[in-house]
Amino acid sequence: MAAHQRWPGPVGLRCSVSLLLLWAVWTEPLEWDERGYVLYCPCMGRFGNQADHFLGALAFAKMLNRTLAVPPWIVYRHHTPPYTNVHVPYSHFFQLHALAAYHRVVPLEDFMEKLAPQHWPPGRRRAYCYEAAAQRSADRKSCPMKDGNPFGPFWDHAGVDFDESVLFGGISFSSYHQPQWKKRFPPSEHPVLALPGAPAQFPVIQEHVGLQRYMVWSDRMREEGEEHIAALLTRPYVGIHLRIGSDWQNACRLLESGETGPHFMASPQCVGYDRQTARPLTSTMCLPDLAEILRAVRLWVRKTSARSVYIATDSESHSSDVEKLFQGKVKVVTLQPDWAQTDLYILGQADHFIGNCVSSFSAFVKRERDIRGLPSSFFGMDNPGKVGGREEL
Ligand SMILES: *[C@@H]1O[C@H](CO)[C@@H](O)[C@H](O)[C@H]1NC(C)=O
Repeated sequence: MAAHQRWPGPVGLRCSVSLLLLWAVWTEPLEWDERGYVLYCPCMGRFGNQADHFLGALAFAKMLNRTLAVPPWIVYRHHTPPYTNVHVPYSHFFQLHALAAYHRVVPLEDFMEKLAPQHWPPGRRRAYCYEAAAQRSADRKSCPMKDGNPFGPFWDHAGVDFDESVLFGGISFSSYHQPQWKKRFPPSEHPVLALPGAPAQFPVIQEHVGLQRYMVWSDRMREEGEEHIAALLTRPYVGIHLRIGSDWQNACRLLESGETGPHFMASPQCVGYDRQTARPLTSTMCLPDLAEILRAVRLWVRKTSARSVYIATDSESHSSDVEKLFQGKVKVVTLQPDWAQTDLYILGQADHFIGNCVSSFSAFVKRERDIRGLPSSFFGMDNPGKVGGREEL
């Protein structure tokens, strides 16, 4: 569905209001930031994980007072054209200038085009990584910047080859080590910290959850999402995220083996970030069965007097089961859009959202809704409360 969405789409791009605004902001000649830059590849996982990492990377760049080179999103389109990784500029989905309220940023594309030729030319491109990561390379001294997918295609897309490696150890990305980072890598000697992965933890740590407020949807995403909502849904509507596909079933089996404890992928968002006081993580919270899906949907449709239900899913939608539940009195909609971000937008706007506790895709929606004061729950957990939201200053 949503066949009108295409990437890349130069015509659509030229028409986009947000890009015109960005053009106004970014056509000012870019000045080199003497305080340095942070570059990284969002090389772990799909959008939900990349978004968690982005928040941490943004905080890391601010902590070092370096400009963050905002990477494109890596979208894995291996089952639909172009059957490869697609690198989608940040500004396609979100407003770049909204980030500026928090910290200095530049799109990686602009950094490469306008700044790198003079200030970070080929021959001077150093990679920075943990000693442990370099251990995996053939000479045990090189950062594995371009080894395998998505690493190689990412830096190829950016047009970067690395000339040497700088290894480090004994420091983490947390604010605790801020003085060590500053001392070890002064921008005068290390202007560009290019890292193989995000300088951040997964899932996002509690103090960075509130940075979600700076991720504001682009006009094109908002317009498209609002069109779908107006055309397909009647308010109030309940939005649900079904993360139930076969890869997820395998992941949730780890939980049943008891090895993970309550902290498993994005679960701190619902069980709490403190391991000591974390609530138990049940297998239903990871992988709700049809009975639980229908129970939760029935509960929230009744509570909110919803007139429609929007289902975002990674596999089956169970839409006919949900329709039957309400004997056709509630409209059930599933788009399975070309871009998962369309689902994210529509879930974010719902009158109530039911997500998956362990999923970083659900976590993105939950964070956005918490910031706007909109209610959310999880399968297997009707009253999660608000565990994040404390913003780092
Ligand atoms: C961070 O960098 C900006 C811009 O270069 C500068 O104005 C500011 O004083 C710096 N802040 C700190 C805490 O060093």
